[in-house]
Amino acid sequence: MDGLDALKARFIAAVSAASDEAALEEVRLAALGKKGEISALMAGLGKMSPDERKAAGAQLNVLKDEIDAALRAKKAALGDAALNERLQAEWLDVTLPGRPRRLGTIHPVSQVMEELTAIFADMGFAVAEGPQVESDWYNFDALNIPPEHPARQEHDTFFMARAEGDNRPPHVLRTHTSPVQIRAMAEQGAPIRVIAPGRVYRMDMDQTHTPMFHQVEGLAIDRDISMANLKWTLEEFCRAFFEVPSVELRFRASHFPFTEPSAEVDIRCSWEGGQLKIGEGDKWMEILGSGMVHPKVLSAAGVDPTQWQGFAFGMGIDRIAMLKYGIPDLRAFFESDLRWLRHYGFAALDMPDLAGGLSR
Ligand code: DAH
Repeated sequence: MDGLDALKARFIAAVSAASDEAALEEVRLAALGKKGEISALMAGLGKMSPDERKAAGAQLNVLKDEIDAALRAKKAALGDAALNERLQAEWLDVTLPGRPRRLGTIHPVSQVMEELTAIFADMGFAVAEGPQVESDWYNFDALNIPPEHPARQEHDTFFMARAEGDNRPPHVLRTHTSPVQIRAMAEQGAPIRVIAPGRVYRMDMDQTHTPMFHQVEGLAIDRDISMANLKWTLEEFCRAFFEVPSVELRFRASHFPFTEPSAEVDIRCSWEGGQLKIGEGDKWMEILGSGMVHPKVLSAAGVDPTQWQGFAFGMGIDRIAMLKYGIPDLRAFFESDLRWLRHYGFAALDMPDLAGGLSR
């Protein structure tokens, strides 16, 4: 049969030109489909003589197989190409680090409380707690601040309401954490070593004061505790807390009703270009009040002052958080601004500990 070579060449060319499976199927139908050209030629065999039919039939079968093979090969190639294209487009780099999702943030005050608890725990201090609504006696009298003492005025106290006709002194929102000293000694006796972090309240509001703020009280009572132990403890604390190799503290004589002698403690620092640095420079920043616990305070808590003595201190937590983490305005601590929290906050699952580095 003449023309079969041309027919083959045309279909093979059409197969290789087909750019997707749909085009390839069209070629298959045009050649081998029921109404395709090769099928038509096959149908024509019936009109031939037996000899002619035998020769032409064999030729047509070979052609049919060749075209079929070309179609299959092309179909496989198109499949590979489509797969390669998907592999190119849809790859995933499993070696990339994951994207950590923050489970909220820890407030700097909570972080600092955890940090200082870890440091003092390492020095043998347990954590003590007391109520925020405190009796007048625990907040003042037991701490050697009797009713007419001028120190009461300095505390800008919030008073709780009393029932009509009840003439007892009203409860107060505790103005400092010092009443926890009395509660802890009354409960545990001496010797004792505790810190008491918590909320305190005073009627005051400006850039460096808020009506609620945080203090941590420290108390160490034993047979022979002295001011030297106080100084070492505070220096050790500051070095660990501010995470600097050395700090310098300055003890200034002061007066508190509940300690005798009393000292206020400043830390050496520098302010350069709005950046605060602890442990260097020529500025001093007050960070706490302290002293040897007054015998009257020991007596009020049921501890015999002829047998026991020791030191106490009270430190502003918000203040040292501002110093350590460079936070300029105290009021922002209590505004619950999520942007501020994300900036100054800490990852939820990082618990500060001395071995791992406090603030990482
Ligand atoms: N309670 C004091 C205050 O809030 C701070 C203070 C000073 C606490 C000296 C103490 C201390 O334990 O010894 O102003």
